[in-house]
Amino acid sequence: MNTENIHPIEDLLLKREEKESLLKQRGKVFWFCGLSGSGKSTLAVQVEKDLHHEGIHSLILDGDNLRSSLNKDLGFSDNDREENIRRVSEIAKILANNGLLVIASFITPRKKFRDLAREIIGEDIFHEIYIKASIDKCEARDVKGLYAKESRGEIKSLTGKESTFEEPTSPWMTIDTEHEKLSQSSRKLFDAITKQVKI
Ligand code: ADX
Repeated sequence: MNTENIHPIEDLLLKREEKESLLKQRGKVFWFCGLSGSGKSTLAVQVEKDLHHEGIHSLILDGDNLRSSLNKDLGFSDNDREENIRRVSEIAKILANNGLLVIASFITPRKKFRDLAREIIGEDIFHEIYIKASIDKCEARDVKGLYAKESRGEIKSLTGKESTFEEPTSPWMTIDTEHEKLSQSSRKLFDAITKQVKI
């Protein structure tokens, strides 16, 4: 669309630093990527609770939630996944620029989608966290029954099967949910995140 007559007022808004000093925490985005069934949502929910206890205000942006609301017009083609990530990155950016700690939980299967998120949100406040578990492990867990549906031919383009998942090569942090307990993984995340956001 032609944006010639659109005049954003970004320069007039209070700066992130001003919001941060009011909230006494840093505005940041922790971007959980990984296969369906790797544990992204489970960890996000646990870490949000732990941060809340610590007096740190955080919120979760989750793939399934956003795909039932703002992004319900999108499917799982590469183009739609990219648009999904573009939209949620714009939201994450607004929230973090208002001093909030955002936990974004999306498969984000391709490097170019993760790079897009980083570019929109800003290198300085974007932290890529790979929630790692092998496709075999995710398939064995199959919490949502999606892998079984895929093997029966009932869904197409499932990430890790028909649709590619490019493993992150240099994430800010990797959490190995295949070999760690939930309590270990969530503790590591809590420690790393609080270090970044406490003022
Ligand atoms: S992403 O690829 O665009 O980053 P996102 O995280 O928003 O994906 O959504 C993934 C969720 O959609 C999964 O957790 C799963 O519940 C659901 N889903 C339904 N169909 C698919 C599919 N073909 N591939 C992956 N996830 C799917």
